[in-house]
Amino acid sequence: MAQTYFATTQPGLEEALLSELRDLKIKRPRMVTGGVEFDATYTTLYQANLALRSATRIWLRLDEFRARDTSELFRKCRRFDWERLIPPELALNLRASSRQSRMVHTGTITEVVEEAISQRFVEELGQPAPLFSSGDDAQRILIRIDGDRCQLSLDSSGSRLQRRGWRTEAGPAPLRENIAAGLLLQIGWQPHQPLLDPMCGSGTIPIEAALMRQRIAPNLARRFAFERWANFEAARLDKVRTALHRPAPTSPPDPSPIEGSDRDPDVLQAARANARRAGVDAQLHLTLATLQDRPAPESTEPGWILTNPPYGERLATGDALSSLFHLWQSRLPTWSLAFIWPRERADQVRKLAGNRLQSVATVFNGGISVDLWIGTPPAAK
Ligand SMILES: C[S@@+](CC[C@H](N)C(=O)[O-])C[C@H]1O[C@@H](n2cnc3c(N)ncnc32)[C@H](O)[C@@H]1O
Repeated sequence: MAQTYFATTQPGLEEALLSELRDLKIKRPRMVTGGVEFDATYTTLYQANLALRSATRIWLRLDEFRARDTSELFRKCRRFDWERLIPPELALNLRASSRQSRMVHTGTITEVVEEAISQRFVEELGQPAPLFSSGDDAQRILIRIDGDRCQLSLDSSGSRLQRRGWRTEAGPAPLRENIAAGLLLQIGWQPHQPLLDPMCGSGTIPIEAALMRQRIAPNLARRFAFERWANFEAARLDKVRTALHRPAPTSPPDPSPIEGSDRDPDVLQAARANARRAGVDAQLHLTLATLQDRPAPESTEPGWILTNPPYGERLATGDALSSLFHLWQSRLPTWSLAFIWPRERADQVRKLAGNRLQSVATVFNGGISVDLWIGTPPAAK
């Protein structure tokens, strides 16, 4: 039987997530700000958690009903069959949001729902009341009050999906793994194409690209919140996991290497270790080099330069943007260029590149809005 789910991502990457859900053959996914809603079976939910690259979490929509005040909220939450999914030993972490409702205090909303769940378990089912905890390990439940409607959702993912497990080392401002994957999808990079990140830091963009090329599902090795639900079927998850272990294409030595370089030897070492943990070190060429003196890419075919230059207060920007632009214009003029840059400093990009670059999306990254800039090959004009 199909349920409704909501997969979240960073605002700005919804298109990428939508295309991934379509690839999973999900019918009629619905894009909204910050994510995509879709209907699917539990098998597809397991598959989506293992396979989605640009998502941050997947929520199961539990119920939606009218709740004009706390007594109506209490009554309906006490009546809801929580036990279908929640075993009594599972600690619960309730969060609430409220808009245009008489119930303005989110703290009161969570208390009311906690009490309703407790009474359901103790008085209706004769079981101990669940523990409530704000710990990261507890099962997240979202109570969304909007006007006189209440929506209950259950987190199926647990820790965020970008925590793939391989990035245990990083520089000062690493890009989130799901944003790196989302950018690759959003620019339309095809896994057979060459790719270069000349400011690769801990290697997030090249590693995510190599995982895509090898068709390795990003979250094969981690655990999920749904594994602790009362209706969890381990055999079903095993089957989904096995099906996702598709062998990489067995083509002859890859003609289009995925390359990364950085001027900082420490972050480059971290990138190499991360690539090893992700199982893609053999697919990457990582080089210690500045933008100014990096050797030409090995590929004779043009590809994409995709990078995340230093910006903001944490890193000195220096002349990274102009050196990047120079690398593209004068040394790789048949390649396409894409990078992210703070929205509030868009004038710097326009001053440097005129109308040769276009902003195609605005993504929320590390607390600020950044534009995704794309330039088609200058030589092609
Ligand atoms: C924002 S970080 C990239 C983070 C990376 N995407 C990650 O996930 O770890 C920017 C990187 O640019 C590198 N960098 C800055 N200026 C450079 C230059 N002129 N040549 C090469 N690398 C440079 C820094 O060493 C830093 O690792």
